[in-house]
Amino acid sequence: MADAQEMQDGKNFYPDVPQSCPEFLLKGSNSLDWGMKNRLARIFSPDNCRTVMLAVDHGYFQGPTTGLERIDITITPLIQYADALMITRGALRSSIPPEMNKPVVLRSSGGQSILKELSNERITVDIEDAVRLNATALAVQVYIGGVHEHESIGNLVEIVDNGNRHGIPTMAVTGVGKELVRDAKYLGLATRMCAELGAHFVKTYYCEPGFARVAAGCPVPLVIAGGKKLPEPEALAMAYRAVNDGAAGVDMGRNIFQCEAPMAMIQAVRAVVHGEETPEKALDLYHSLKSTEERSQYAQ
Ligand code: R5P
Repeated sequence: MADAQEMQDGKNFYPDVPQSCPEFLLKGSNSLDWGMKNRLARIFSPDNCRTVMLAVDHGYFQGPTTGLERIDITITPLIQYADALMITRGALRSSIPPEMNKPVVLRSSGGQSILKELSNERITVDIEDAVRLNATALAVQVYIGGVHEHESIGNLVEIVDNGNRHGIPTMAVTGVGKELVRDAKYLGLATRMCAELGAHFVKTYYCEPGFARVAAGCPVPLVIAGGKKLPEPEALAMAYRAVNDGAAGVDMGRNIFQCEAPMAMIQAVRAVVHGEETPEKALDLYHSLKSTEERSQYAQ
């Protein structure tokens, strides 16, 4: 035990050096509390405030989606290249090794299937269970203009309040009903509303023209969904245009895990988002990694 009488006077107080008070650079997040900032800094790289999230939560309303039939086999090898994993608690507990050391963005709303009205959601995870799962952020769908707009906004607000109590940020996901157009006017309305209602970051779709205005009008970071599977050159070009127009990265699912070479694709997406590569260079990388991936499969 330390002897109080032998304690020496401290010397290194640097009285002439003001204590550092660095700004937290992630858009709209400088006034948040330490725990909230620490969690956001695990998702968005502190070097460039960008992220490549891997979305594999599709089963919550559409069952065994192509590419996600066996999450343990197809998704686990991709996690090393993702900055965060967006997933349901069921898939996390059943299929992802707990040694995985990447932040989890936990899908926390649901309650409908593809057979019914999609906007009819409720909260599906108790905050206590999210804490138990060590969730880094919570995700909730918001259906602006949808049949159940009001209830989905209620879900967002409740999840934000519950998360705030524990220092866990919330990602709002703008769900767009079939009858609505994913243009800048609609996405600008939906993303801004989510931020004003307390979301710490928002997942939305890329649109042309006008995405730069959508991003500028949203006071917190935006990440884009990939949407339905596109040819690789188009998916990489969309990611490139999105980050150049102000998105903080992607939360991509089908355009990664439905590719012929998902490991190559997620690295190509990273090259665009983090490496500032052009889509053409990223596509070259995709092809060269794909052939290496194929060669190593043949070798097995
Ligand atoms: C939205 O409804 C869910 O979060 C999706 O499962 C996910 O966002 C879709 O990602 P992607 O469009 O890139 O497949």
